[in-house]
Amino acid sequence: MNSSRREFFRTAAAGVACAGALRSAASDSSIEVLIGEPIATIAPEIYGHFVENLGGVIYDGIWVGADSAIPNVGGLRKQLVDALQRINPPVIRWPGGCFADSYDWRDGIGPRDKRPRRTNFWAAADEWPKNARRTGPQIYDPNQLGTIEFAQFCKAVGAQPYFASNLRGSTAQDFDRWVEYCNSPAGSTTLADQRAADGEREPLNVRYWGVGNEAWGCGGSFTPADYATEFLRYIAWVPGYGMPLALVGSGPNGNDLDWTRGFFSKVARKGALGRMWGWSMHHYAWNASGGRTSDWMAGKGSALRFDAAQYYEILREANQMETFITSQWAAMGETDRLHRVKLVVDEWGAWYAPGTEPFAEALLGQQSTMRDAVVAGMTLDTFNRHADKIGMAAVAQLVNCLQSLFFAHEGQFCLTPTYHVFDMYRAHQKAQSLRTSVSAPAISFARAGGTGSLPGLSCSASLHDKALTLTITNLSLDQARQVEIGLRGASITAARAVTLAAADAHAHNSFENPHAVEPRAEQVRAGGAKLVRVCAPASVTKLELTLG
Ligand code: AHR
Repeated sequence: MNSSRREFFRTAAAGVACAGALRSAASDSSIEVLIGEPIATIAPEIYGHFVENLGGVIYDGIWVGADSAIPNVGGLRKQLVDALQRINPPVIRWPGGCFADSYDWRDGIGPRDKRPRRTNFWAAADEWPKNARRTGPQIYDPNQLGTIEFAQFCKAVGAQPYFASNLRGSTAQDFDRWVEYCNSPAGSTTLADQRAADGEREPLNVRYWGVGNEAWGCGGSFTPADYATEFLRYIAWVPGYGMPLALVGSGPNGNDLDWTRGFFSKVARKGALGRMWGWSMHHYAWNASGGRTSDWMAGKGSALRFDAAQYYEILREANQMETFITSQWAAMGETDRLHRVKLVVDEWGAWYAPGTEPFAEALLGQQSTMRDAVVAGMTLDTFNRHADKIGMAAVAQLVNCLQSLFFAHEGQFCLTPTYHVFDMYRAHQKAQSLRTSVSAPAISFARAGGTGSLPGLSCSASLHDKALTLTITNLSLDQARQVEIGLRGASITAARAVTLAAADAHAHNSFENPHAVEPRAEQVRAGGAKLVRVCAPASVTKLELTLG
């Protein structure tokens, strides 16, 4: 922070009107919102979701069947549809993930009672809980939720579908045909007639299409050059039927810059960069070992039982998102100098060791605590701050899996702290992201062979007409932060705060105790260009400020 900004805060602090009437002398942190420094409009699609046919995501989670005693809309769990609607989901990715790399879309069309049963991609995963029933729809996929049912789910919640195509196991022709089934005009083709018979006469107008998934791994173990060849074959002449298709390439494993450079240079040599809309990137916060191992299984910790070091390790992993975004963006820009291609972070979240599944068939299901709310807050803040680069993102996954927003099993249902963060942050959608300047004590923590460090606070700000949204995450496990908030270039006429906090970062919701963690809203006394707010340890805060 430069000296003039320090001076601004010193002056602004005098006689501050603030939440809890705190005196500025005690403030240890500051955030300045630079009203005159817009970054870009925040694409609503940054607040997207991911639904994979994995464990309890589809069957039991979303799809209960039209004949179920569980309240449903055409087979879709009603409580989930209603709750999802409330947070304005802009886009939902389906059917995977790795599942997509073996999915035949034709299995999910036609009369539901005639659809084939297939072995699910995840049937033999090492992570299955010992007591899981290994015979149900999670193992032998009944294909009850196919293209039409998924499109109807999206329609019911107000989201656009984002389909991941199978580049490993099917052909460019299959891809063309799936687009034809979805988008060709009513009555025009045999597949359009099939779509009508399945329940949707009008085109589904699917715009977003992933061309493969993790092509370096479960999506085919390609080299970047070989994947580029396949990608070019897939996207050559794929018909859009009047819908400009937004085609997304399968990006790197972690922050692998060679993958990005290798792919982009080959696609650019063929003059095809302009036909690409997005470049996908996946980043999970999973290694809680403090640098002791990079083994995928051994490095993970528990979602519920964690100490301070493991708490900070997961935040440290999540915080790498910023570096990954900026370095991938720079590598893309070496070829795509005009930055026509946007980054699509279509899998992100915390990933823990098995052991806290909400029920045994929820493969990769895990509890979700205030630590995960902090991960969600800091990640969404990062996306907002890079609104010029991120075209879309999807948290993994929607329900019963990884950093989910919901738990749903038979007649039981509950919201996780991550749901509440999405609810709080939805005010950023379509707003203008603004630059901020943050000063807060850094966090240090011990790790193998040294010390780790994290910023004390994460934040992002956005403006829509006179409504300024400022979201703040306090990363510290045990220190509250008193934050002086100043606006450069505007004054505040009204303020409201919404806080998600708990006495303990391990706090979480469950079927038995669904309201343990919930946000709290309050009016805040405001006037002038500043206010002071205390942010509890491991908390997420949203300030809604009306500007004069
Ligand atoms: O989200 C779970 C899995 O993680 C996805 O199937 C895959 O794309 C990623 O490796």
